[in-house]
Amino acid sequence: MSNDILVRHARDAALAAYAPYSRFSVGCAVESVDGEIAKGSNMENACYRLGVCAELAALTAAKQAFGLEKIARIAVAGGHVGSDGVLAGESVVTSCGGCRQAILEAAHVSGRDLEVISANGGGTIVTVHPISELLPLGFGPANLTDSA
Ligand code: THU
Repeated sequence: MSNDILVRHARDAALAAYAPYSRFSVGCAVESVDGEIAKGSNMENACYRLGVCAELAALTAAKQAFGLEKIARIAVAGGHVGSDGVLAGESVVTSCGGCRQAILEAAHVSGRDLEVISANGGGTIVTVHPISELLPLGFGPANLTDSA
């Protein structure tokens, strides 16, 4: 699947966001090694700190659909939904630190340095980075070797 198509899935997922407080809709599409897609979008809450990011929602959906071990690539896009019902926006959405940590965990399970494709709302600007670049020196399962 091309980067453009995966980004399209992420932009489509953003249309299902529940983001009445930030009014910033984020979508995430997770692709499996077999080409399956799992999607998620951000879901906010009146108790602001309880909001869930699109990446976490999509990783949970991916776990249900095909398992973390089959994750191949991840695309994220965010912006606002225009009056035409299409996601728009100029700035590229790069995953927050917490989502990078969750992607690192999926990378560990899959055994792959997962590629994260980040796009602006309009899908016109796309950047691609492996999770090892987005979260260098991240805390992973290997850091727990000294637990009791
Ligand atoms: N958001 C995500 O869904 N993913 C990110 O990586 C960054 C931020 C959401 C959280 C909140 O609902 C909105 O974007 C504004 O921060």
